[in-house]
Amino acid sequence: MASNLGSISVLMIGTPLPAAVKTFEAVLPVSQILTRPYDLEALMEETFALMPAIILCSQTPDGVSLIEVAQLLRMQFQNSKILFVTSQREGFERKSLQKNGFDDAFLMPIDNTVLQQFLKDELAKISQGAIRTFRSVKLMDLEPGEVLDFDTFLFFPMNKKYVKYSASGDSLNESQTKKLAKHQVGSVHVTVDQMQKVYDFTASRLKKLGSATGLSETEKREKIQGAVRELMVGLFNDSAKEGTIEQGRAVIADCQGIVKSYITNSGKDSANWYAKLLNLSGSDANSYSHSGNTATYAALFSLGLGIGDPEQLAIAGLMHDIGMVDVPEEIQLKPEGEWTEEERKIFQKHPEFSVNLIKNRKMIVPEIVMKMILMHHEKFSGGGYPRGLAGPKFLKEAQVLGLANRFDKLTAVVEGQATLTPKQALDLIKAESLDNPSIAAFDPEIVNKLVAMFSQGNPTDSSEVPEIQ
Ligand SMILES: [Fe+2]
Ligand SMILES: [Fe+2]
Repeated sequence: MASNLGSISVLMIGTPLPAAVKTFEAVLPVSQILTRPYDLEALMEETFALMPAIILCSQTPDGVSLIEVAQLLRMQFQNSKILFVTSQREGFERKSLQKNGFDDAFLMPIDNTVLQQFLKDELAKISQGAIRTFRSVKLMDLEPGEVLDFDTFLFFPMNKKYVKYSASGDSLNESQTKKLAKHQVGSVHVTVDQMQKVYDFTASRLKKLGSATGLSETEKREKIQGAVRELMVGLFNDSAKEGTIEQGRAVIADCQGIVKSYITNSGKDSANWYAKLLNLSGSDANSYSHSGNTATYAALFSLGLGIGDPEQLAIAGLMHDIGMVDVPEEIQLKPEGEWTEEERKIFQKHPEFSVNLIKNRKMIVPEIVMKMILMHHEKFSGGGYPRGLAGPKFLKEAQVLGLANRFDKLTAVVEGQATLTPKQALDLIKAESLDNPSIAAFDPEIVNKLVAMFSQGNPTDSSEVPEIQ
Protein backbone atom coordinates (compact mmCIF):
# COMPACT_ATOMS: atom_id res chain seq x y z
CA MET A 1 0.00 0.00 0.00
CA ALA A 2 1.49 3.29 -1.02
CA SER A 3 -0.12 5.56 1.46
CA ASN A 4 -3.07 5.71 3.75
CA LEU A 5 -2.63 9.37 4.37
CA GLY A 6 -5.14 10.47 1.77
CA SER A 7 -7.97 9.04 3.81
CA ILE A 8 -7.24 10.63 7.14
CA SER A 9 -7.32 14.00 8.75
CA VAL A 10 -6.09 15.41 12.00
CA LEU A 11 -8.27 17.59 14.18
CA MET A 12 -7.24 20.27 16.62
CA ILE A 13 -9.87 21.49 19.06
CA GLY A 14 -9.36 24.85 20.75
CA THR A 15 -6.23 26.90 20.21
CA PRO A 16 -3.96 25.07 17.75
CA LEU A 17 -0.52 24.30 19.08
CA PRO A 18 2.23 25.70 16.81
CA ALA A 19 4.54 22.70 17.33
CA ALA A 20 1.77 20.29 16.34
CA VAL A 21 0.75 22.36 13.34
CA LYS A 22 4.34 22.24 12.13
CA THR A 23 4.53 18.48 12.51
CA PHE A 24 1.25 17.96 10.68
CA GLU A 25 2.07 20.38 7.87
CA ALA A 26 5.26 18.52 7.15
CA VAL A 27 3.32 15.47 6.05
CA LEU A 28 -0.31 16.36 5.34
CA PRO A 29 -2.01 18.70 2.89
CA VAL A 30 -3.48 21.71 4.68
CA SER A 31 -6.99 20.58 3.72
CA GLN A 32 -6.53 17.53 5.95
CA ILE A 33 -5.52 19.53 9.00
CA LEU A 34 -8.72 20.64 10.68
CA THR A 35 -9.25 23.09 13.49
CA ARG A 36 -12.46 23.56 15.42
CA PRO A 37 -13.44 25.71 18.39
CA TYR A 38 -14.68 24.18 21.64
CA ASP A 39 -18.27 23.87 20.48
CA LEU A 40 -19.13 20.36 21.53
CA GLU A 41 -22.62 20.30 20.09
CA ALA A 42 -21.38 21.34 16.67
CA LEU A 43 -18.59 18.77 16.87
CA MET A 44 -20.98 15.97 17.69
CA GLU A 45 -23.21 16.89 14.78
CA GLU A 46 -20.53 17.32 12.18
CA THR A 47 -19.90 14.43 9.84
CA PHE A 48 -16.30 14.22 8.85
CA ALA A 49 -15.54 13.25 5.28
CA LEU A 50 -12.09 12.20 6.42
CA MET A 51 -11.99 10.56 9.82
CA PRO A 52 -9.61 12.36 12.20
CA ALA A 53 -6.88 9.89 13.09
CA ILE A 54 -5.51 12.18 15.76
CA ILE A 55 -7.52 14.63 17.82
CA LEU A 56 -5.54 17.18 19.77
CA CYS A 57 -7.44 19.01 22.49
CA SER A 58 -5.97 22.15 23.99
CA GLN A 59 -6.99 23.74 27.29
CA THR A 60 -10.78 23.97 27.54
CA PRO A 61 -12.41 27.37 28.05
CA ASP A 62 -14.05 28.12 31.42
CA GLY A 63 -17.24 26.20 31.88
CA VAL A 64 -16.33 23.35 29.56
CA SER A 65 -15.45 20.17 31.41
CA LEU A 66 -12.40 18.45 30.04
CA ILE A 67 -13.62 15.05 31.17
CA GLU A 68 -16.91 15.60 29.37
CA VAL A 69 -15.00 16.56 26.24
CA ALA A 70 -12.94 13.37 26.43
CA GLN A 71 -15.97 11.19 26.93
CA LEU A 72 -17.99 12.76 24.14
CA LEU A 73 -15.09 12.52 21.74
CA ARG A 74 -14.46 8.93 22.69
CA MET A 75 -18.05 8.06 21.83
CA GLN A 76 -17.91 9.83 18.52
CA PHE A 77 -14.39 8.85 17.45
CA GLN A 78 -13.75 5.36 18.69
CA ASN A 79 -10.63 4.72 16.69
CA SER A 80 -8.96 8.09 16.93
CA LYS A 81 -6.02 8.91 19.15
CA ILE A 82 -7.42 11.55 21.47
CA LEU A 83 -4.76 13.68 23.12
CA PHE A 84 -4.75 16.55 25.58
CA VAL A 85 -2.11 19.26 25.46
CA THR A 86 -1.79 22.05 27.96
CA SER A 87 0.72 24.35 29.52
CA GLN A 88 -1.20 24.60 32.79
CA ARG A 89 0.66 22.53 35.27
CA GLU A 90 -1.96 22.96 37.96
CA GLY A 91 -4.28 20.00 38.06
CA PHE A 92 -2.42 18.20 35.27
CA GLU A 93 -2.73 14.53 36.09
CA ARG A 94 -1.68 12.29 33.23
CA LYS A 95 -3.05 9.16 34.83
CA SER A 96 -6.52 10.46 35.55
CA LEU A 97 -6.71 12.00 32.07
CA GLN A 98 -5.92 8.59 30.63
CA LYS A 99 -8.53 6.96 32.81
CA ASN A 100 -11.08 9.41 31.53
CA GLY A 101 -10.79 8.82 27.85
CA PHE A 102 -7.61 10.51 26.62
CA ASP A 103 -5.02 8.29 25.01
CA ASP A 104 -2.29 10.48 26.35
CA ALA A 105 -1.68 13.93 27.79
CA PHE A 106 1.25 16.29 27.35
CA LEU A 107 2.42 19.18 29.46
CA MET A 108 4.10 21.98 27.56
CA PRO A 109 6.82 22.99 27.18
CA ILE A 110 8.50 20.05 28.92
CA ASP A 111 6.78 17.45 26.74
CA ASN A 112 7.26 19.34 23.49
CA THR A 113 9.72 16.96 21.88
CA VAL A 114 7.93 13.93 23.26
CA LEU A 115 4.67 15.14 21.72
CA GLN A 116 6.26 15.80 18.35
CA GLN A 117 7.82 12.35 18.37
CA PHE A 118 4.48 10.83 19.38
CA LEU A 119 2.67 12.59 16.52
CA LYS A 120 5.34 11.59 14.02
CA ASP A 121 5.20 7.98 15.19
CA GLU A 122 1.42 7.93 14.92
CA LEU A 123 1.45 9.41 11.44
CA ALA A 124 4.12 6.95 10.42
CA LYS A 125 2.01 4.05 11.67
CA ILE A 126 -1.08 5.33 9.85
CA SER A 127 0.80 5.88 6.63
CA GLN A 128 2.04 2.29 6.63
CA GLY A 129 5.49 3.23 5.56
CA ALA A 130 4.69 6.23 3.37
CA ILE A 131 6.14 8.43 6.06
CA ARG A 132 9.15 6.89 7.60
CA THR A 133 10.08 7.62 11.15
CA PHE A 134 13.16 5.83 12.32
CA ARG A 135 14.10 4.45 15.68
CA SER A 136 17.58 3.48 16.63
CA VAL A 137 17.67 -0.15 17.69
CA LYS A 138 19.99 -2.70 19.17
CA LEU A 139 19.91 -6.07 17.48
CA MET A 140 20.96 -8.80 19.78
CA ASP A 141 23.29 -11.62 18.91
CA LEU A 142 23.04 -11.59 15.14
CA GLU A 143 24.24 -14.71 13.42
CA PRO A 144 25.25 -15.21 9.79
CA GLY A 145 22.36 -16.54 7.77
CA GLU A 146 19.96 -14.63 9.97
CA VAL A 147 16.67 -13.69 8.32
CA LEU A 148 15.16 -10.56 9.82
CA ASP A 149 11.50 -9.86 9.18
CA PHE A 150 12.02 -6.11 9.22
CA ASP A 151 14.09 -3.66 7.17
CA THR A 152 17.25 -2.20 8.64
CA PHE A 153 18.70 1.19 7.77
CA LEU A 154 22.00 2.82 8.50
CA PHE A 155 22.12 6.49 9.37
CA PHE A 156 24.77 8.76 7.92
CA PRO A 157 25.04 11.77 10.20
CA MET A 158 27.16 13.77 7.76
CA ASN A 159 24.46 14.06 5.15
CA LYS A 160 21.62 13.10 7.50
CA LYS A 161 20.52 10.23 5.34
CA TYR A 162 19.01 6.87 6.06
CA VAL A 163 20.10 4.16 3.69
CA LYS A 164 18.42 0.78 3.59
CA TYR A 165 20.92 -1.86 4.58
CA SER A 166 18.87 -5.04 4.58
CA ALA A 167 15.31 -5.74 3.53
CA SER A 168 12.76 -7.76 5.42
CA GLY A 169 13.20 -11.39 4.44
CA ASP A 170 16.85 -10.99 3.37
CA SER A 171 19.27 -13.52 4.66
CA LEU A 172 22.26 -11.71 6.13
CA ASN A 173 25.70 -12.91 5.20
CA GLU A 174 28.61 -12.96 7.57
CA SER A 175 30.00 -9.57 6.71
CA GLN A 176 26.54 -8.00 7.01
CA THR A 177 25.90 -9.45 10.46
CA LYS A 178 29.35 -8.36 11.57
CA LYS A 179 28.78 -4.89 10.27
CA LEU A 180 25.36 -4.58 11.89
CA ALA A 181 26.75 -5.85 15.17
CA LYS A 182 29.59 -3.35 14.99
CA HIS A 183 27.51 -0.32 14.10
CA GLN A 184 24.77 -0.89 16.58
CA VAL A 185 23.56 1.87 18.85
CA GLY A 186 22.81 5.13 17.15
CA SER A 187 23.32 3.94 13.64
CA VAL A 188 21.12 0.91 12.99
CA HIS A 189 17.58 2.05 12.46
CA VAL A 190 14.18 0.53 11.90
CA THR A 191 11.03 2.34 10.89
CA VAL A 192 8.58 2.85 13.71
CA ASP A 193 5.83 0.79 12.10
CA GLN A 194 8.12 -2.24 12.25
CA MET A 195 9.15 -1.87 15.88
CA GLN A 196 6.84 -4.64 17.07
CA LYS A 197 8.84 -7.04 14.93
CA VAL A 198 12.03 -5.85 16.58
CA TYR A 199 10.47 -6.44 20.00
CA ASP A 200 9.47 -9.94 18.99
CA PHE A 201 12.92 -10.60 17.57
CA THR A 202 14.63 -9.42 20.75
CA ALA A 203 12.24 -11.30 23.03
CA SER A 204 12.73 -14.55 21.16
CA ARG A 205 16.47 -13.96 21.30
CA LEU A 206 16.33 -13.56 25.08
CA LYS A 207 14.34 -16.79 25.33
CA LYS A 208 16.80 -18.60 23.16
CA LEU A 209 19.68 -17.42 25.34
CA GLY A 210 17.91 -18.71 28.43
CA SER A 211 17.32 -22.15 26.99
CA ALA A 212 20.48 -22.55 24.95
CA THR A 213 22.03 -25.97 25.08
CA GLY A 214 25.76 -26.42 25.13
CA LEU A 215 26.28 -23.35 27.31
CA SER A 216 27.10 -23.55 30.98
CA GLU A 217 24.82 -21.77 33.43
CA THR A 218 27.49 -19.12 33.91
CA GLU A 219 27.85 -18.58 30.17
CA LYS A 220 24.07 -18.28 29.78
CA ARG A 221 23.92 -15.83 32.67
CA GLU A 222 26.69 -13.76 31.16
CA LYS A 223 25.03 -13.67 27.78
CA ILE A 224 21.66 -12.70 29.22
CA GLN A 225 23.21 -10.06 31.45
CA GLY A 226 24.99 -8.56 28.49
CA ALA A 227 21.79 -8.59 26.48
CA VAL A 228 19.75 -6.93 29.22
CA ARG A 229 22.42 -4.32 29.75
CA GLU A 230 22.48 -3.54 26.08
CA LEU A 231 18.72 -3.18 26.04
CA MET A 232 18.91 -0.62 28.76
CA VAL A 233 21.98 1.12 27.50
CA GLY A 234 19.89 4.00 26.21
CA LEU A 235 18.78 4.65 29.77
CA PHE A 236 22.35 4.99 30.86
CA ASN A 237 23.29 7.47 28.28
CA ASP A 238 24.16 10.14 30.79
CA SER A 239 23.88 13.04 28.38
CA ALA A 240 21.97 16.28 28.80
CA LYS A 241 19.16 15.83 31.23
CA GLU A 242 16.40 16.67 28.79
CA GLY A 243 17.75 14.19 26.33
CA THR A 244 17.89 11.56 29.00
CA ILE A 245 14.27 12.01 29.96
CA GLU A 246 13.06 11.75 26.39
CA GLN A 247 15.31 8.92 25.45
CA GLY A 248 14.39 7.32 28.71
CA ARG A 249 10.73 7.29 27.74
CA ALA A 250 11.52 5.75 24.39
CA VAL A 251 13.84 3.17 25.90
CA ILE A 252 11.26 2.22 28.51
CA ALA A 253 8.64 1.87 25.79
CA ASP A 254 11.04 -0.40 23.90
CA CYS A 255 11.84 -2.47 26.97
CA GLN A 256 8.13 -2.78 27.67
CA GLY A 257 7.47 -3.98 24.14
CA ILE A 258 10.17 -6.60 24.51
CA VAL A 259 9.07 -7.78 27.95
CA LYS A 260 5.47 -7.95 26.77
CA SER A 261 6.42 -10.00 23.74
CA TYR A 262 8.64 -12.19 25.92
CA ILE A 263 5.85 -12.95 28.33
CA THR A 264 2.90 -13.18 25.99
CA ASN A 265 4.81 -15.66 23.84
CA SER A 266 5.95 -17.76 26.77
CA GLY A 267 3.16 -20.30 26.29
CA LYS A 268 2.49 -20.15 30.02
CA ASP A 269 -0.90 -19.50 31.64
CA SER A 270 0.31 -16.09 32.66
CA ALA A 271 0.80 -15.02 29.03
CA ASN A 272 -2.73 -13.96 28.27
CA TRP A 273 -3.62 -12.17 31.37
CA TYR A 274 -0.35 -10.29 31.48
CA ALA A 275 -1.43 -8.63 28.24
CA LYS A 276 -4.90 -8.01 29.65
CA LEU A 277 -3.59 -6.60 32.90
CA LEU A 278 -1.19 -4.37 31.06
CA ASN A 279 -4.05 -3.03 29.04
CA LEU A 280 -6.42 -2.68 31.99
CA SER A 281 -3.88 -0.82 34.08
CA GLY A 282 -3.43 1.65 31.27
CA SER A 283 0.24 0.67 31.04
CA ASP A 284 0.00 -0.50 27.48
CA ALA A 285 0.11 2.98 26.02
CA ASN A 286 3.32 4.70 25.09
CA SER A 287 3.31 6.69 28.25
CA TYR A 288 4.55 6.75 31.77
CA SER A 289 3.04 4.18 34.07
CA HIS A 290 4.62 3.18 37.37
CA SER A 291 3.18 -0.33 37.37
CA GLY A 292 4.10 -0.93 33.73
CA ASN A 293 7.64 0.32 34.22
CA THR A 294 8.10 -1.61 37.45
CA ALA A 295 6.93 -4.75 35.67
CA THR A 296 9.38 -4.15 32.87
CA TYR A 297 12.37 -3.44 35.11
CA ALA A 298 11.46 -6.33 37.40
CA ALA A 299 11.44 -8.78 34.48
CA LEU A 300 14.69 -7.41 33.05
CA PHE A 301 16.44 -7.35 36.44
CA SER A 302 15.25 -10.90 37.05
CA LEU A 303 16.71 -12.03 33.74
CA GLY A 304 19.95 -10.15 34.27
CA LEU A 305 20.44 -11.20 37.90
CA GLY A 306 19.18 -14.73 37.44
CA ILE A 307 16.84 -14.32 40.39
CA GLY A 308 13.23 -15.48 40.23
CA ASP A 309 11.07 -16.03 37.20
CA PRO A 310 10.81 -13.03 34.83
CA GLU A 311 7.15 -13.72 34.06
CA GLN A 312 6.23 -13.81 37.73
CA LEU A 313 8.22 -10.69 38.45
CA ALA A 314 6.50 -8.83 35.63
CA ILE A 315 3.09 -9.81 36.94
CA ALA A 316 4.05 -8.81 40.48
CA GLY A 317 5.25 -5.49 39.06
CA LEU A 318 1.93 -4.80 37.42
CA MET A 319 -0.02 -5.63 40.56
CA HIS A 320 2.23 -4.51 43.40
CA ASP A 321 0.48 -1.22 44.12
CA ILE A 322 -3.13 -2.03 43.18
CA GLY A 323 -4.00 -1.85 46.87
CA MET A 324 -3.27 1.87 46.66
CA VAL A 325 -6.95 2.30 45.72
CA ASP A 326 -7.72 1.67 49.39
CA VAL A 327 -5.39 4.44 50.55
CA PRO A 328 -7.34 7.72 50.72
CA GLU A 329 -6.33 10.12 48.00
CA GLU A 330 -5.44 12.95 50.39
CA ILE A 331 -2.76 10.72 51.92
CA GLN A 332 -1.38 9.75 48.52
CA LEU A 333 -1.20 13.37 47.38
CA LYS A 334 0.58 14.63 50.50
CA PRO A 335 4.37 14.61 50.58
CA GLU A 336 5.63 11.85 52.86
CA GLY A 337 7.10 14.31 55.32
CA GLU A 338 3.69 15.81 56.09
CA TRP A 339 1.93 12.59 57.06
CA THR A 340 0.56 12.19 60.54
CA GLU A 341 1.46 8.97 62.33
CA GLU A 342 -2.04 7.67 61.55
CA GLU A 343 -1.69 8.47 57.84
CA ARG A 344 1.70 6.80 57.65
CA LYS A 345 0.25 3.63 59.14
CA ILE A 346 -2.51 3.54 56.55
CA PHE A 347 -0.13 4.15 53.65
CA GLN A 348 2.21 1.45 54.84
CA LYS A 349 -0.59 -1.07 54.66
CA HIS A 350 -0.84 -0.78 50.88
CA PRO A 351 1.14 -3.98 50.14
CA GLU A 352 -1.37 -5.86 52.32
CA PHE A 353 -4.25 -4.06 50.60
CA SER A 354 -2.86 -5.23 47.24
CA VAL A 355 -2.71 -8.84 48.38
CA ASN A 356 -6.19 -8.68 49.93
CA LEU A 357 -7.63 -7.21 46.77
CA ILE A 358 -6.18 -10.04 44.72
CA LYS A 359 -7.61 -12.59 47.16
CA ASN A 360 -11.02 -10.92 47.30
CA ARG A 361 -11.29 -10.81 43.55
CA LYS A 362 -10.40 -14.49 43.52
CA MET A 363 -7.61 -13.93 41.03
CA ILE A 364 -5.39 -16.95 40.78
CA VAL A 365 -1.91 -15.66 41.44
CA PRO A 366 1.03 -17.88 42.41
CA GLU A 367 1.93 -17.76 46.10
CA ILE A 368 5.42 -16.44 45.33
CA VAL A 369 3.92 -13.49 43.44
CA MET A 370 1.73 -12.71 46.46
CA LYS A 371 4.83 -12.77 48.66
CA MET A 372 6.75 -10.46 46.34
CA ILE A 373 3.87 -7.99 46.40
CA LEU A 374 3.51 -8.18 50.15
CA MET A 375 7.24 -7.62 50.67
CA HIS A 376 8.06 -4.95 48.11
CA HIS A 377 8.68 -2.29 50.79
CA GLU A 378 10.57 -4.48 53.25
CA LYS A 379 14.22 -3.75 53.97
CA PHE A 380 17.15 -6.10 54.24
CA SER A 381 18.09 -4.46 57.55
CA GLY A 382 14.57 -4.98 58.88
CA GLY A 383 13.34 -1.39 58.88
CA GLY A 384 10.80 -1.80 56.12
CA TYR A 385 7.05 -2.35 56.12
CA PRO A 386 4.54 -3.88 56.61
CA ARG A 387 6.27 -6.63 58.61
CA GLY A 388 9.84 -5.48 59.19
CA LEU A 389 11.24 -8.70 57.73
CA ALA A 390 15.04 -8.82 57.74
CA GLY A 391 17.84 -10.72 56.03
CA PRO A 392 16.86 -13.86 54.15
CA LYS A 393 13.24 -13.45 55.29
CA PHE A 394 13.05 -10.66 52.74
CA LEU A 395 12.89 -13.01 49.75
CA LYS A 396 15.32 -12.44 46.90
CA GLU A 397 12.51 -12.32 44.37
CA ALA A 398 10.77 -9.67 46.45
CA GLN A 399 14.03 -7.70 46.56
CA VAL A 400 14.16 -7.70 42.77
CA LEU A 401 10.63 -6.29 42.71
CA GLY A 402 11.61 -3.78 45.40
CA LEU A 403 14.63 -2.70 43.36
CA ALA A 404 12.54 -2.27 40.22
CA ASN A 405 9.99 -0.25 42.20
CA ARG A 406 12.71 1.94 43.71
CA PHE A 407 14.48 2.42 40.38
CA ASP A 408 11.31 3.58 38.68
CA LYS A 409 10.33 5.87 41.56
CA LEU A 410 13.74 7.53 41.45
CA THR A 411 13.83 8.00 37.68
CA ALA A 412 10.14 8.79 37.16
CA VAL A 413 9.37 11.84 35.11
CA VAL A 414 7.23 13.86 37.44
CA GLU A 415 6.05 17.09 35.89
CA GLY A 416 7.92 20.03 37.19
CA GLN A 417 10.02 17.93 39.52
CA ALA A 418 13.65 17.11 39.14
CA THR A 419 14.25 13.41 38.80
CA LEU A 420 17.43 11.42 38.81
CA THR A 421 19.12 10.05 35.75
CA PRO A 422 19.30 6.25 35.74
CA LYS A 423 22.97 6.44 36.62
CA GLN A 424 22.31 8.72 39.59
CA ALA A 425 19.46 6.46 40.68
CA LEU A 426 21.70 3.43 40.60
CA ASP A 427 24.37 5.29 42.61
CA LEU A 428 21.78 6.21 45.22
CA ILE A 429 20.44 2.66 45.41
CA LYS A 430 23.99 1.51 45.91
CA ALA A 431 24.61 4.02 48.68
CA GLU A 432 21.35 3.11 50.41
CA SER A 433 22.35 -0.51 50.72
CA LEU A 434 26.12 -0.43 50.97
CA ASP A 435 27.04 2.63 52.98
CA ASN A 436 25.51 1.60 56.26
CA PRO A 437 24.62 -2.07 56.78
CA SER A 438 22.39 -1.28 59.76
CA ILE A 439 19.94 0.52 57.49
CA ALA A 440 20.56 -1.38 54.22
CA ALA A 441 17.52 -1.42 51.96
CA PHE A 442 18.54 -4.46 49.93
CA ASP A 443 20.96 -7.34 50.19
CA PRO A 444 24.34 -5.76 49.29
CA GLU A 445 25.20 -8.85 47.26
CA ILE A 446 22.17 -8.35 44.99
CA VAL A 447 22.81 -4.62 44.71
CA ASN A 448 26.44 -5.23 43.76
CA LYS A 449 25.32 -7.64 41.08
CA LEU A 450 22.84 -5.12 39.73
CA VAL A 451 25.45 -2.39 39.65
CA ALA A 452 27.92 -4.75 37.96
CA MET A 453 25.30 -5.62 35.38
CA PHE A 454 25.20 -2.00 34.27
CA SER A 455 28.85 -1.17 34.51
CA GLN A 456 30.46 -3.74 32.26
CA GLY A 457 32.02 -1.60 29.59
CA ASN A 458 30.68 1.64 28.28
CA PRO A 459 27.69 2.22 26.04
CA THR A 460 28.70 2.00 22.42
CA ASP A 461 29.80 5.29 20.97
CA SER A 462 26.92 6.45 18.84
CA SER A 463 28.82 9.16 16.98
CA GLU A 464 30.60 6.63 14.84
CA VAL A 465 29.87 6.96 11.16
CA PRO A 466 28.88 3.69 9.55
CA GLU A 467 30.36 2.61 6.27
CA ILE A 468 28.91 0.10 3.85
CA GLN A 469 30.66 -1.74 1.13
FE1 LIG B 1 4.38 0.30 46.84
FE1 LIG C 1 5.28 1.03 43.68
